[in-house]
Amino acid sequence: MRILIAYTSLSGNTREVAFQVRERCQQLGHRITWIDTFMQGLAAAGDDPRHDLYLLGAWSDNAGRTPPEMKRFIAELVAAVGKPPRLAVFGTGETQWGEEYYCGAVRRMAAFFDTGYPRLEIEQMPHGQRDALKIERWTDHVLAIAGDPGATHTTIDKATPHADPARLIR
Ligand SMILES: Cc1cc2nc3c(=O)[nH]c(=O)nc-3n(C[C@H](O)[C@H](O)[C@H](O)COP(=O)(O)O)c2cc1C
Repeated sequence: MRILIAYTSLSGNTREVAFQVRERCQQLGHRITWIDTFMQGLAAAGDDPRHDLYLLGAWSDNAGRTPPEMKRFIAELVAAVGKPPRLAVFGTGETQWGEEYYCGAVRRMAAFFDTGYPRLEIEQMPHGQRDALKIERWTDHVLAIAGDPGATHTTIDKATPHADPARLIR
């Protein structure tokens, strides 16, 4: 698949998650368009902004908000391709900001796109085998759903638990 990974990262945590997601996708033979939304817009994707799958990653700003550079990118993306049905969101945050705001940007973005794909939420910098495995499993899961022509929004939602179900807020 042709996959667009767009992320924003202030201090490197989300970038590290994005790197690991990219590595896994590439290991499995997928082609990646890589966009750091702090420095690049959708033009960095080349002539054709359409992709088979979109993976958006963000840290969370004050009270769980989406960072402005990601909001800008999302506006550009929606103007170009609409709200893609095959889109998943990942990100990092810190529970010390309060459970209701933890990884708030990830939840807001997922809600905006009304995606049934599982979310990936990592606390701060991913570390150790546990986080590496969590990222790998999430990536495999998302790729499997995206590659399944029979998957619909409803079946996705029912079939896929979020990466961190304990923190799922409906
Ligand atoms: C001003 C500021 C506000 C933040 N607010 C939140 C928040 O509401 N919820 C959250 O989960 N994390 C919050 N964080 C923590 C970051 O999202 C977290 O450290 C993240 O891993 C940083 O990712 P990055 O290294 O990719 O920039 C905040 C951090 C800063 C600097």
